[in-house]
Amino acid sequence: MAGAGISTPSGIPDFRSPGSGLYSNLQQYNIPYPEAIFELEFFFHNPKPFFTLAKELYPGHYRPNVTHYFLRLLHDKELLLRLYTQNIDGLERASGIPASKLVEAHGSFASATCTVCRRSFPGEDLWADVMADRVPCCPVCTGVVKPDIVFFGEPLPSRFLLHLADFPMADLLLILGTSLEVEPFASLSEMVQKSVPRLLINRDLVGPFAWHPRSRDVAQLGDVVHGVERLVDLLGWTQEMQDLIQRETGKLDGQDR
Ligand code: APR
Repeated sequence: MAGAGISTPSGIPDFRSPGSGLYSNLQQYNIPYPEAIFELEFFFHNPKPFFTLAKELYPGHYRPNVTHYFLRLLHDKELLLRLYTQNIDGLERASGIPASKLVEAHGSFASATCTVCRRSFPGEDLWADVMADRVPCCPVCTGVVKPDIVFFGEPLPSRFLLHLADFPMADLLLILGTSLEVEPFASLSEMVQKSVPRLLINRDLVGPFAWHPRSRDVAQLGDVVHGVERLVDLLGWTQEMQDLIQRETGKLDGQDR
């Protein structure tokens, strides 16, 4: 289970870190309260703050970091059952984790839907408008086209239902870089068997790790990259990680050229 805290080392602000989190820095967007930027009612009233944020978050600006590549290595070693992420930055895909192993619980920019006629568009069709500070409009009905990011009150993607099979099957749960504040995602943390160890790697103790820890819970508090590197070292995978990161960043450099 991953949240915005795994992408701050890539340069993307999280939401709730005091001072640096997005919700502490929305003054420029002129919105009534932070979460409004992800609320449909406000979006229909004024879509510009969301698209200003989207311009910052649009895939392509940022790169995966050690945390993403650790999850990719788990996949390469056939140890990753599924990665449930709240993040909309697409860095899990960029690290090479296949879509079949991903549940992007709060959606992504990979696709978009017209808010009037419900036509679907590939995310890249909106890129030019978003980068030019234009609100993307449907070429058929002229309605506003919204990226398939899950707004508060919207249903989560149907792939989220995979948790009904995945979590009872898991024999280890990693929870990385999330405040576990938003439902129904946060409750996933309680869906593994009681005998299953849960490892939290996060700056601070959150959710059930703070309120009602289980006997096999482990919390590695502090910077997520440091915590992941410590785990990788204990696993004896440091060299493999370095090789993987070198290969993958070489590929991304090639794409940038
Ligand atoms: N190292 C360790 N922990 C970190 C780091 C870091 N470098 N950066 C941030 N964190 C921690 C923060 O301390 C916090 O506990 O990651 C957590 C991030 O929490 P949030 O900002 O609340 O992000 P997230 O949990 O992903 O938010 C969930 O809220 O607004 C909605 O849809 C939005 O998906 C988002 C959801």
